[in-house]
Amino acid sequence: MLVRLLYVSQPVGPVTTTMTTLILEKSATYNKKENITGILCQGSGLWMQVLEGERSQVNLLYTRIMADRNHHNVELLSMEEIAHRRFGQWSMALVYLSKDDPMVQMAHPEFDPYTASAKEAYFILDELIKTGSPIVNTP
Ligand SMILES: Cc1cc2nc3c(=O)[nH]c(=O)nc-3n(C[C@H](O)[C@H](O)[C@H](O)COP(=O)(O)O)c2cc1C
Repeated sequence: MLVRLLYVSQPVGPVTTTMTTLILEKSATYNKKENITGILCQGSGLWMQVLEGERSQVNLLYTRIMADRNHHNVELLSMEEIAHRRFGQWSMALVYLSKDDPMVQMAHPEFDPYTASAKEAYFILDELIKTGSPIVNTP
């Protein structure tokens, strides 16, 4: 049974390039092996991540990620059964969510994933992908 999970969290301390690279490297091997796909959205003091895959694999990875001391306030926004993957081409893609990005700021200055509905969060994610924010592909 396929599921899609969405959570939000806050990095503890500054997010360095090294940290991001490590996460993407881990994802490239682990997620590929476990057939997990998704997208990691980073910026403005937040991480938002979508994980897609078999339910037990997604649960397992989410538990590992929750225990990661690089972030806190990990909050589950949604977990749903799905028929098809939306981010099937990426073991983990990276999108930058930046308040300095005028597209993001103008369109949604008030966006706060901790109070927004999952539907709104997915909407913003879709927009970020469409508006061509830089995406680092880790196939
Ligand atoms: C925001 C965030 C997203 C992460 N996403 C993934 C992921 O998709 N796949 C993965 O294997 N590890 C991911 N990690 C890393 C895991 O939390 C954890 O550090 C790693 O799986 C530990 O692997 P190890 O025990 O082999 O060192 C992420 C970490 C953070 C902070």
